[in-house]
Amino acid sequence: MGMFDLVIVNARVVSASDIVTCCIGVKNGKIRTLVDSFGDEEIQSARVIDAQGAYVMPGGIDAHVHLCQDLKTGPHGLGGACSDNFETGSKSAAAGGTTTVITFATQTRAEEDKSLLDVIKAYSARAEATGSYVDYGFHIIIVRNDKDVLQKEMPILRKEWGISSCKLFLTYETQRLTDSQLLDVMYEAKQNSMTTMIHAENGDMIQWLTDKLESKGMVAPYYHALSRPPLVEGEATNRAIALAQLIQNPILFVHVGSALGAKNVRRAQTIGLPVYAETCPRYFHLTWEDLKRFHSPTCFENSKMICSPPPPPDTSDQEELFVGLENGTFTIYSSDHCPFRYDHPHGKPSGVLEDPKSMEGEQYCEGDELRSLLARKEGAFRLIPNGIPGVETRLPLLYTGALAAGRITPQKFVELTSTNPAKLYGLYPQKGTIMPGSDADLVIWYPDDSFKPFNLANSMLHHNVDYTPYEGMKFVNWPRYTILRGKVIWMEGEVQGKLRDGQYVKRGPSQLVRGVSKTTQDPRRVASWLYE
Ligand SMILES: *[C@@H]1O[C@H](CO)[C@@H](O)[C@H](O)[C@H]1NC(C)=O
Repeated sequence: MGMFDLVIVNARVVSASDIVTCCIGVKNGKIRTLVDSFGDEEIQSARVIDAQGAYVMPGGIDAHVHLCQDLKTGPHGLGGACSDNFETGSKSAAAGGTTTVITFATQTRAEEDKSLLDVIKAYSARAEATGSYVDYGFHIIIVRNDKDVLQKEMPILRKEWGISSCKLFLTYETQRLTDSQLLDVMYEAKQNSMTTMIHAENGDMIQWLTDKLESKGMVAPYYHALSRPPLVEGEATNRAIALAQLIQNPILFVHVGSALGAKNVRRAQTIGLPVYAETCPRYFHLTWEDLKRFHSPTCFENSKMICSPPPPPDTSDQEELFVGLENGTFTIYSSDHCPFRYDHPHGKPSGVLEDPKSMEGEQYCEGDELRSLLARKEGAFRLIPNGIPGVETRLPLLYTGALAAGRITPQKFVELTSTNPAKLYGLYPQKGTIMPGSDADLVIWYPDDSFKPFNLANSMLHHNVDYTPYEGMKFVNWPRYTILRGKVIWMEGEVQGKLRDGQYVKRGPSQLVRGVSKTTQDPRRVASWLYE
């Protein structure tokens, strides 16, 4: 009936390029208008939110989230149980200002898991089983190079499912592809305008270093970092860039955590290759020191900080990563939310329970018995599931650590957390910006001067994980409202949305890719004849 369902007044509206103080009118879930002011009649039947001059940004798009996933990252394919499903994970996203998550659906090497379409259907059923508080999509993880399957199914994934990105691994025994297998999948991805996401760590270097560490008895969680020095990412990024240049397909490096990796990405970008990079909060807020945070360096509780690649050795790398955040080397900033519990036998404790050496004479156990076992053991880092939670803290950490600290502009904040993920993964301009016709996905912050800084406690978060790496950290702002397609789903500390508010989103091809430059297409240097 009325012109608008929702209006937001006194908004400092931020896009990836501009900041303007205005009012936003929302109708049927879409942004309808941006204006100086509304007349009383225009807004009489609308809900009115006064932003009080605070930043209003496009809702966060977290393009790297693991929910309800089989996470067989361990060398024996054991791994751990992903503790967040779509219910808890998406609620946590909403509470942290995120309105869209792109999660992973993963193929395995099991014979019955050859079909990518079956994988997607299975994961889609997992999402539908609970519903989601925020919009969601899938990246497909491909762990085999069955050409018949790729040729037949990739076009269907693109057209029917709107899946325009696949992820490939250079490490983890159960997932990694050889160079020629990588070329096979990259080639088919290129034919289908799919962006290839790469987990770039050299699996052989990790394996070799792990064996050496183990032979010296260096098996406590802290040594996980030593098994993955920055060179491991340095080598793998270089190699993947060379492979992608040969095939001439766009690639996105997920979770780049080293200055060396960032430098390699930058070099490729400088010669005009469609190479993109993602980084994550942990690389700006944690270092190797945090892997010794609990009690002693050999204490198993430090497994709470284990993720791959690990955080950088010290703060000097963080400074270089900040440069990359400011200067465009990093295209997107995602959480890599990968939730494992500490109080659950299939969470971090599998690093003790699955280690025959630690377990000599001990029994598989849970609850208090498990806690007492973990207090006595150091476990084996090789067997600890890799990953830390963070879907809810992603935007607040960037706000406190970079925006409020004066290290990035509000526009850069929006670019990294919303606009670029939307463009890179084919959601723009439906999402990722505030303009007429776009989905009314919004995050409204508190006015900086009225927000009382607080120290984070895990009990404030909505994920199904029993810790946060950022416990006790001071935050200077937090999303006040999260709005999904015109509906308030989070307001002043309360979840207001409902399961099934979130919808599956189909994506198009990447809108960042503009082909490769002439100099990098010289057929004497790359295989451009492949496509003639
Ligand atoms: C941009 O950032 C990258 C990655 O941190 C760095 O290697 C490069 O030197 C930076 N370039 C400029 C011009 O600052």
